[in-house]
Amino acid sequence: MDPTLLLLRWAHILAAIVAMGGLVFARFGLVPALAEIDTATRDKIHEAIRRRWLPWVIGAITVLLASGLANFLLFNGRVKAEGWSGGFWMRQTSYHALFGAKFLLAMVAFYFASALVGRGQGTQWVRNDRAKWLSVTLGLSLAVVLLSGWMRQLHTGPNQIESSGVGMPSSSRRADGELSRDGDDGVEQAQDRYRDGRAGALFREPGAGDSETVPATVPATVPAQ
Ligand code: HEM
Repeated sequence: MDPTLLLLRWAHILAAIVAMGGLVFARFGLVPALAEIDTATRDKIHEAIRRRWLPWVIGAITVLLASGLANFLLFNGRVKAEGWSGGFWMRQTSYHALFGAKFLLAMVAFYFASALVGRGQGTQWVRNDRAKWLSVTLGLSLAVVLLSGWMRQLHTGPNQIESSGVGMPSSSRRADGELSRDGDDGVEQAQDRYRDGRAGALFREPGAGDSETVPATVPATVPAQ
């Protein structure tokens, strides 16, 4: 286990929980409740909340950006250094494209999240219809989370139901062929873990069949999966 990666993951996921939790509460609890009171009181409450919530939004965005970029660069470096799938893993899985889409969506979500707790005249149009732009920001954030899970599964493989019960296997075969194992039955579990997934094709023994999982765009120099 890599403690740096674990810390980055904790920080990233906690920041996402704080930011998205705030959005859900504001959209489905706060804004509908405040719609029932007079405008002067509502504006006062919004201002009081805004001042207190702003540091949390700035903090969450900063942590998401810093941990996300660090995570991406470290992962990229590892894939290159270990020559996953003959150096073509990123292309085969479209990981970079997914990351690009996620990054763009996250930037737009950050813009709206900041505008919702901002004070500038230029972003007043966002606060004029809080319910609508909160929904948009939530939708964007949801798309970002879905893309993140997709990206992750490209290199962790699918979860697997084991005969003894439900759970993740304790070992896996890495792209460089090295087997990391925690228990005596590690070899068997490693062989099973990626049996069906497309990502799994990149971890399987050559000649294990399943050639249709390798995209046609893979250059001829890449070893058969
Ligand atoms: C709205 C903002 C964001 C949300 C809600 C979010 C959410 C998440 C979540 C939930 C995961 C964990 C996925 C999992 O472990 O199953 C994740 C992973 C990740 N995020 Fe974010 N994220 C956001 C912004 C960013 C940004 C701005 C970056 C890059 C600068 C980034 C880069 C990454 C990377 C590289 C991973 C690892 C994906 C992998 O395992 O391959 N994220 N994100």
